[in-house]
Amino acid sequence: MNITFCCSNTEADLWLAALRVALPQAHITLWQSGAPLADYAIVWVPPQAFFDQQTALKGIFNIGAGVDALMRLRLPKGVPVVRLTDAGMGLEMAEYVCQAVAEFRRDFAGLRAAQARGQWQVPSVPSRQAFNVGIMGFGVLGQQVAKALRYFEYPVNAWSQTARHSDGIQHYAGESELGAFLAVSQVVVCLLPRTPQTENLLNHQRLSQLPQGAYLINVARGALVVDQDLLALLDSGHLKAAWLDVFRQEPLPPSHPFWHHPAITLTPHISAPTQLQASVDQIAHHIRCIDQGLPVPGQVALEKGY
Ligand code: NAP
Ligand code: GLV
Repeated sequence: MNITFCCSNTEADLWLAALRVALPQAHITLWQSGAPLADYAIVWVPPQAFFDQQTALKGIFNIGAGVDALMRLRLPKGVPVVRLTDAGMGLEMAEYVCQAVAEFRRDFAGLRAAQARGQWQVPSVPSRQAFNVGIMGFGVLGQQVAKALRYFEYPVNAWSQTARHSDGIQHYAGESELGAFLAVSQVVVCLLPRTPQTENLLNHQRLSQLPQGAYLINVARGALVVDQDLLALLDSGHLKAAWLDVFRQEPLPPSHPFWHHPAITLTPHISAPTQLQASVDQIAHHIRCIDQGLPVPGQVALEKGY
């Protein structure tokens, strides 16, 4: 079995070494233009030339949860595209979001500013029962985040494409219920995939439906939020603060107003990095499944784009 690896921004040597241990019978090489045809591709943001040349693939494995970059390419027809499902990212994401929620509720930004002024300033902390967290996207990661927030006894509501039910969570589904979902979310956590339906979804109209003084956490993709609309609503005070891990352009350009906005905390796309060993184990298992004609979890529904 031949496997080709084509990933930008990755430590290719570490991946190749771990993949060769997990799939000892496979011949695994780093892709370069003109490379021989492979059976399976392991990719992260490959160039179009990769798919134009690799015409014998039986499976494409994305080493991330989001497949939006792949969906913009011309992919070979009939070849399953498989993304990472959890693979250790859920716990990372859950911890990151819980930290951001706790920082908002206890006003850590205000406390840091008070410390810098040498002031003992006790904030008024809203009760957690009144601090509703709304999760947009109740998929693999959204569910892990919900579980962690429930552990800390935050009221959680969730919004998804199809109707869902789970204990202790108030569910909303579809465009018709988005307004009602936003209206009860003191904090909204964006964990949707980037698709034509979700791009620019959090615009002025939608963000205005959040309660006065609400907070936004975006850990999904930058293109889901309209930057200028977010800035306008932070400046007007309708939104109190935003915590952003993802941006339309990454790295975020130095001139972007997000960098120095007093109500924005930003991190460089680190909320749930791909976990190398867990991902290699999952991909190796999935390759064995395809090879044996078994169903593969995490197969992307190409018509939906996620
Ligand atoms: P997932 O399992 O595919 O879950 C996606 C969720 O979004 C599902 O609940 C789906 O609804 C919902 N959804 C999709 N389109 C929708 C729409 N138009 N309206 C309402 N709901 C919609 O994905 P995941 O593994 O949880 O990952 C989510 C995203 O997180 C990824 O796509 C990626 O962009 C981002 N991510 C970011 C990082 C980071 O480090 N910042 C790391 C990993 C992933 P249904 O349940 O009805 O299908
Ligand atoms: C990271 O952003 C991912 O989609 O896994």
